[in-house]
Amino acid sequence: MLMLRSSPRPSDYRSRDAVVTLAVTALVAGFLTWGSVGAAQSPERTGPLAGTASLTGTVEAPRPFTAARVYARNTDRRILYMVYTAAGRFRAVGLLPGSYEVSVQAPGLVSDVQQLAVGAGDRPHITVSLRDADRPDRFPSAVDAPARDLTLQGYDEIYPPGPGRRVLEEVCMVCHGENFAPRRPRDAAGWQAALDLMMGRSLFERERVGSTEGILAPPASHFRFGFQDRKDLLEYLIAHFGADSTPRAVRPDTDVPLDEAALGKAQFIEYYLPPDPVPEGTAAEPQGELGRSRTRIAYTMQLDAEGNAWLVDRGNPNRLVRLDPRTGEQKDYVLPDPRAGVHEIVIDREGIVWVPEIGGTPRTREYRLLGFNPATERWQHQIVADPDDEIRNPNKVGMHGSTVDSAGNLYTNWFGHGAIGRWDRATGKISIFRIPTAGAIPYGMAIDKNDNVWSSLWNGGKIAKFDTTTRQWTEFSPPTYPANIRRGVGVDSRNNVWFGIYAAGRRPARLAKLDQSTGRITEWDIPYRPASPYEATADFEDNIWFPDASPPTQPAVIGRFNPRDETFTFYPKPQAVADSPKLQHTADGAVWYTARTSIPGATGFGVLYPDKDKITTLGGYPLNGPPGYAFTAAPGTE
Ligand code: HEC
Repeated sequence: MLMLRSSPRPSDYRSRDAVVTLAVTALVAGFLTWGSVGAAQSPERTGPLAGTASLTGTVEAPRPFTAARVYARNTDRRILYMVYTAAGRFRAVGLLPGSYEVSVQAPGLVSDVQQLAVGAGDRPHITVSLRDADRPDRFPSAVDAPARDLTLQGYDEIYPPGPGRRVLEEVCMVCHGENFAPRRPRDAAGWQAALDLMMGRSLFERERVGSTEGILAPPASHFRFGFQDRKDLLEYLIAHFGADSTPRAVRPDTDVPLDEAALGKAQFIEYYLPPDPVPEGTAAEPQGELGRSRTRIAYTMQLDAEGNAWLVDRGNPNRLVRLDPRTGEQKDYVLPDPRAGVHEIVIDREGIVWVPEIGGTPRTREYRLLGFNPATERWQHQIVADPDDEIRNPNKVGMHGSTVDSAGNLYTNWFGHGAIGRWDRATGKISIFRIPTAGAIPYGMAIDKNDNVWSSLWNGGKIAKFDTTTRQWTEFSPPTYPANIRRGVGVDSRNNVWFGIYAAGRRPARLAKLDQSTGRITEWDIPYRPASPYEATADFEDNIWFPDASPPTQPAVIGRFNPRDETFTFYPKPQAVADSPKLQHTADGAVWYTARTSIPGATGFGVLYPDKDKITTLGGYPLNGPPGYAFTAAPGTE
C-alpha cells in the first residue's frame, strides 16, 4: 500500500525511519546509504558512474498506485532512463549530462512533463503529481502505441463452443495466440485464403517465397490439421470472426504480477536510433518486415569485448550500428548490400561482428555471411552461405539465428528449409546439415559446453541437438505438445537447455528446462495470460530471463525465473508494445535487448539493470566474453 507524503529532503529520511513499514525497509535503507554518503565519495563523482548524475523524487497521486514508471528522457542524446517507484519514491542513477524531460505514469494515472537540465555530478530531487489519465485503459509506456479500438471480452464469449474451437486452439493459437482471429475479422474468402497460405496451396506451382507459406502443409507439420479439421475450422472462423464482427481481444483474467520491492531496485536505459529524415514528397523504399515500414527497426543486438553494443537495423539502408553506452554515441555502418535484409548478429571471440543476409527486402536472393572487423571498420568477410545450392531454392529463407562454437566455427539456421549451415573457420568450407524431421523450421540457436549445436524447431515444437563431432541429430519433445518455440534455446552454466513455449488458448505459456544428464524436460507455467516468451537465456547466477510481448492485452515485459526457489519476477519494459527477440547478459548481471518497433525514434538498444546499486560500468561486457555464454567454452570437460 502506498503512503502519500510530501517531498522529504534526503536529511529527513533518518527521522522518518520509524514510520516506514517493513515492506519498504530495504528500499529506504538504500536511500539512507545514499543520503549519508558525502558528496566527495558519491558514485556520480568517483567510481563506476563518475561524470553522471542521479535523480530522486517523490510521486503524489489522488489514489494508491504500485510501481509507477518514471521516465527521464535525455533529449540531447536520445536516451531514456526508466525506474519504478517503491512506496511512492524513486531513484535513477548513471544519467548522462544533458536536458531532461521527466514524467511518470501508472495504470490510469499520468503526470505532466517536467524539464530539467542535469550536469555531471548533479543529484536533483523532484516531486511529481499524478492525475487521472484520459485513456485509463492504456498501459504505462514511454511511447504511445497506435490506438486500437478493441472490445475486450471473456474467453468463452469470444470463443463459443463448437467443433472448430478445438482446431483453432490446438493448431492456429499455438503460433498466433488467442487474439489473432478476433482482432482480424474477414469474410469467407479471406479465411479460405488464410488456410490456403498456411497450407501452402500454391507451392505445387512455384517455389516457396516466404517463411510462412505452407507452414502447416503435410508432412511439414506435426499439427493434426486434416480435411475435417479444416472444414470445421473454416465454418467456425466465418461464423464467429466474419467480416461483420468487430475487432475483439480476450480480457486477461490476471495482470502481470508486479513485485514493487524488486522493481524499486531496477533501472532500464534505452538508447534510441535517430530516425532517418524522409524528405517531403519522396517515397522512400519500403523496408523492414514489421508493417513494411519505411523507418529504422532494430532487430537483434550483441555486446563486444570493449563494452560496446552492436545491432542490426532493417531500415533503409540496412545498417550495423555500434553504441558506446558510456557516452551514448552511435556509429552506423551500411551493409555491403543496403537491402540485404537482416535479423541476426553474433560476435566471435576475435571480435568479428557476423551478420547473415536474409535474401533482401525486396528480394535480392543473396545469402552471405558478412563479417565486420571493428578494428579496420571494414567488411572483412563476405562468404556465400550456400555455394553449392544445397538448399535447392532460390528463395532460401534463413538465416534468422546463429551461434559460434569454441573453435570459432559459425553456425546459422536455414529457417525455411529444415537445415543448419556451418562455416568452418580453419578450412573456409561451408557445410549444410539437414534436420531429419521433414519440413522442420529451426529458429533460435545456441551452443552447449560440448560444442553441440541446439536449435528450436518452431513448427514441430521440439528442440534439436546436433552433435558436431558425430554429426548426429537428437530431437527432444517437451511434455507440452503442440508447442510454439521461437528463438527458444539458451544453455546455462550446468549445460541445461532452456526454452520458452507460447501460450495457446487456455493453456498458459511455459518455461522449460532440458536436463542433458537425464534427457528429462521440466516445465513451469508463466503466471499470466497470454505470455509468449521469445527465448530463454541464463545470467551469471543461472537465473533464466525471457522477453515477452503480448499486446494488446498485456504490457511487454522482461521476465526472470529463479530456478532455485522457482519464482518469477516481471519487469514491464519502458515501451508497452516494442518486443525484443533476443537478450544478452553481462558479467555484472545486466540484461541487454533491442526495442524492436517501427515507431520512428522508438527503436534501439535497451538494458535492464535488475539492481542499480550493483552497476559496475555503463559499458556492456558480455558474460564470459564474446559471444557471451553462461559458461566458458571448454569442450570435452563434461
Ligand atoms: C507454426 C506457426 C503457425 C501456425 C501453426 C499457424 N500460423 Fe498462420 N502464420 C504464421 C506466421 C509466422 C505468419 C506470418 C506472420 C506475419 O506475417 O505477421 C502467419 C500468417 C498468417 C496469416 C496472414 C497474416 C494476416 O494477418 O493476414 C493468416 C490469416 C494466418 N496465418 C492464419 C492462420 C490460421 C487460420 C492458422 C490455423 C489453421 C494458422 N495461421 C496457423 C505462423 C503460423
